[in-house]
Amino acid sequence: MAATPIILDCDPGIDDAIAMLLALASPEVDLLAVTTVVGNTSLVNATRNALDVLEWAGRPDIPVAAGEAVAIGPPNDIPWNDAIGVHGETGLDGANLPRAQATTVDEHAVELIARTVLGRPGEITLVATGPLTNVALLLERHPAVGPALRDLVVMGGSLVGGNMSPQAEFNIWCDADAAAQVLALGLNPVVVGLDVTRRATLSEADVYGLEQLPTLGPGIHGMLKFYLERHIVWHGLNVVQQHDSLALAWVIDPTLLSLTPRAIRVDATDGEGRGETYVDEDPGAQPTARWADDLHAARFRELLLERLSALADAR
Ligand code: RIB
Ligand code: CA
Repeated sequence: MAATPIILDCDPGIDDAIAMLLALASPEVDLLAVTTVVGNTSLVNATRNALDVLEWAGRPDIPVAAGEAVAIGPPNDIPWNDAIGVHGETGLDGANLPRAQATTVDEHAVELIARTVLGRPGEITLVATGPLTNVALLLERHPAVGPALRDLVVMGGSLVGGNMSPQAEFNIWCDADAAAQVLALGLNPVVVGLDVTRRATLSEADVYGLEQLPTLGPGIHGMLKFYLERHIVWHGLNVVQQHDSLALAWVIDPTLLSLTPRAIRVDATDGEGRGETYVDEDPGAQPTARWADDLHAARFRELLLERLSALADAR
């Protein structure tokens, strides 16, 4: 079966970095480009981290384009103030990767995605694992891109409580205006929220076992060890939740997730509910998303560990 060409729009971020490695390790996907957005860390850090991860993993050839440094809507100042505690000052603390020689392409993320997708209509899946600022601007500035996408996959949202506020998930909370705009376009994205990503975990033993992998082991272990320590501090959990690589894994194996059409809305008001995702209970409400309700957690974990090991062996 031919590989699915994808573009990953992300805010690396430790779990974004693991999603990048999973994409590189998986013959089912062809990572055409990585675009970056402010979220877990500043745009500068996210972009540097993307370049570092790709070169360290042996793929400096994959183009990286920087996107938006500020969200469309409030809180559009420094959302990563809340994420420093999860991904660290660099956005990829613990990894200690060598600085990439590669640099970004001289093109804004939105323009790179638009040019690439419109050049291959119906072929490319856009996977968004950060705030939807770039995606909203892309679909606003280039309306033809939405229908030209093979698929849109979003890591974000929650119907089971938030991780940034009692109900709001981080990616949606960072730019609720952007998320509301994207969901209102009728593209019916696959939306992979905390409902399933909280159960997509690696154990402490998995994290320590990864250290033994050749070449990439110490870096993967380092970032996940840092991430594990933050899960213990913030959630009292001795596991690492793999939010972004689960979203990407749906492209690799759609049977990993069970999806339900839902009329998902985003609270983009300035009240305390800002960034929350909820189901529009109006009987006439049309579905806006293919919402991930359940997952095969054990199969996802096995896939992720197997692919990280294969990537390290090949490096
Ligand atoms: O809520 C989890 C999401 O927020 C993930 O994408 C993680 O990288 C952070 O961006
Ligand atoms: Ca992310």
